[in-house]
Amino acid sequence: MYSPGVTDEFTIRTRRAARESRIRIEPGGLARAGEFARRLSGARRVAVVGDAAVARRYAPTLLRSLSRAGFECERIDVPQGERAKQPAHLVRLWSRFAAAGLGRADLVVAVGGGVTGDLAGFAAATWMRGVDWIGVPTTLLAQVDSSIGGKTAIDLPAGKNLAGAYHPPVGVLVDPETLRTLPDRQRRAGLAEVVKTGMAVDAALFAWLEREAGSVAAGETGALAVAIARSLKAKARIVQRDERDSGPRTALNFGHTLGHALEAARSYRGPLHGEAVAVGMRTAAALPECARAPGRAPRPLPAAAPHAPHARRPTLRVHGARQESGRARRALGVDPSGGPC
Ligand SMILES: NC(=O)c1ccc[n+]([C@@H]2O[C@H](COP(=O)([O-])OP(=O)(O)OC[C@H]3O[C@@H](n4cnc5c(N)ncnc54)[C@H](O)[C@@H]3O)[C@@H](O)[C@H]2O)c1
Ligand SMILES: [Zn+2]
Repeated sequence: MYSPGVTDEFTIRTRRAARESRIRIEPGGLARAGEFARRLSGARRVAVVGDAAVARRYAPTLLRSLSRAGFECERIDVPQGERAKQPAHLVRLWSRFAAAGLGRADLVVAVGGGVTGDLAGFAAATWMRGVDWIGVPTTLLAQVDSSIGGKTAIDLPAGKNLAGAYHPPVGVLVDPETLRTLPDRQRRAGLAEVVKTGMAVDAALFAWLEREAGSVAAGETGALAVAIARSLKAKARIVQRDERDSGPRTALNFGHTLGHALEAARSYRGPLHGEAVAVGMRTAAALPECARAPGRAPRPLPAAAPHAPHARRPTLRVHGARQESGRARRALGVDPSGGPC
């Protein structure tokens, strides 16, 4: 079990992107972000891009630590929520980078949820044809899923995440203590991605979730730190084998076919992403194709499954991780047309 203060660190190597991402999970680590960044970057200047609400809480600690490590820091706040991924905000970021004199060897740090990571990561991917960036994810969804894997994007009027790039961060610093201020609804939505990772690619994680359902659902920092580390490591194993979503990585889209449809039907102003994915997973799991997947004993969804807005307690019976049958895979939405995040 987790003991407070324990730090976990590992590296993701991607061949095609020819990059290494150093992932560090450290309770309280925000205050030592400068040391982490300095190990990974010789930059002189750092643009710290933060969701305005998150930056109000966490940017001062981050900036103090980065300054102590010798970086010249420029704080750039972006709006809260999905609208920050509009092209106009990307253009504003480029202008601020230019005004700050951010050079090719300098660094972008993104602090916030998946929105900030996607926007600032894409800004880093495109500034001077690509500068290094570090993610400091502060939502559970970002800490367990979106912060690794290298996908960055903005939204266009024609659709979500339409303009983007694979540009893995050089580092990701996860401080689970930042989750203390995250609203419960956001935390539960993030748990859906943990359940998804367990169901799709890591049966041991799923079994652990079943055992620890109480402490995970209650949001205990220790339990969440374990859930984060296990989810990220499971995703890292997959991403290293399939950077571009053409093979095993598509398994991580489990529940996303219907999930994305539910989000789109409400113009992304209805259920949160994780809530929609939870409904998508339950629906996919109920399909007869999944019930017939070979060689797996059915098991109930864990009690810790996130409480999707329209959901009763799960009563569906599903199969454990790694459904092998092609039909089941299609039914689960794990084919590429399942639509990755
Ligand atoms: N790149 C990827 O691989 C990938 C994967 C999944 C999702 N995404 C993207 O991620 C985005 C969704 O991310 P999200 O769910 O993190 O949403 P988000 O970034 O909008 O954050 C959700 C809300 O939580 C607030 N918040 C964040 N951290 C907080 C904290 N510690 N305390 C208090 N409030 C806090 C934010 O201000 C915001 O209002 C979508 O745009 C989606 O497309 C990307
Ligand atoms: Zn997702």
